[in-house]
Amino acid sequence: MVIYGGRSAEREVSLKSGAAVLEALRRSGVSAFGYDPVEGGLGGLETLSPSRVFIALHGRGGEDGTLQGALELLDIPYTGSGVLASALGMDKQRTKQVWQALGLPTPESIMLEPDSDWSQVVEMLGLPLIVKPVHEGSTLGISIVKSQAALEAAYQDAARFDARVMAERFIQGEEYTVALLGDQALPAIRVEVPGGFYDYEAKYVSNTTRYHLPCGLNEADEAALARLCQEAYAAIGGEGWGRVDVMRDAQGRFWLLEVNTVPGMTDHSLVPQAAAYAGIDFDALVCRILETAGK
Ligand code: DAL
Ligand code: MG
Repeated sequence: MVIYGGRSAEREVSLKSGAAVLEALRRSGVSAFGYDPVEGGLGGLETLSPSRVFIALHGRGGEDGTLQGALELLDIPYTGSGVLASALGMDKQRTKQVWQALGLPTPESIMLEPDSDWSQVVEMLGLPLIVKPVHEGSTLGISIVKSQAALEAAYQDAARFDARVMAERFIQGEEYTVALLGDQALPAIRVEVPGGFYDYEAKYVSNTTRYHLPCGLNEADEAALARLCQEAYAAIGGEGWGRVDVMRDAQGRFWLLEVNTVPGMTDHSLVPQAAAYAGIDFDALVCRILETAGK
């Protein structure tokens, strides 16, 4: 059973990921069917009783540990991370707290409230800074704030997506992402957006985003980046597969931004590109991820 769709703001992305996964499984001879919990409810999981579930839901209600918990209770094996890592990975603030406790590099951040002292936030993090909903994916509700005057509006925009909103120091530099598959880190990708901001449009709509593979780092730096991402994923208890997003500043230091425990699998998505570059085609990638179920 491929579970996709769902209720989160990333529903459209998930429908695409799920459809691609379903086709790949069928091409590989797996008898697979799709299931959208919005249409079928949770009861369908029990009555249809799949032998394994491929989770292709993004965001809350799928990527965040709730579905994983239901599947645990039903004793149905599923792909990817378990309850704790999924829940932690969906919370960008608490993910950062775990990294900070372990001494892993992540940009400084603070939580915003409707009555936050905006000048203090700017003093602490500098400008520009990033405002983001704590539990959202695909860059929804995220803004780069360039002046104190724009901060409150950015907060309001993020608050449409989530009751918890954070501000984070902006790292000027290059954006990298590393896909993890089992024990393996796939080749890093450097993402370059002509507009400068890898937002929803740049992720799924625009065809001008450039994906650099090879990423352009020297061998030692790419190996260090891969190790950092593996450590960062292990720190939250991530398993099976996932993706870690990172910035590299002008001095060449890496800064961890977030993890994705159910990364996108659309035709624009990053994990399939990294896998293809490593010689793993889409169908083989999907089968490898399916094998992580129940491990
Ligand atoms: N949250 C989207 C699906 C991603 O990380 O690819
Ligand atoms: Mg994300």
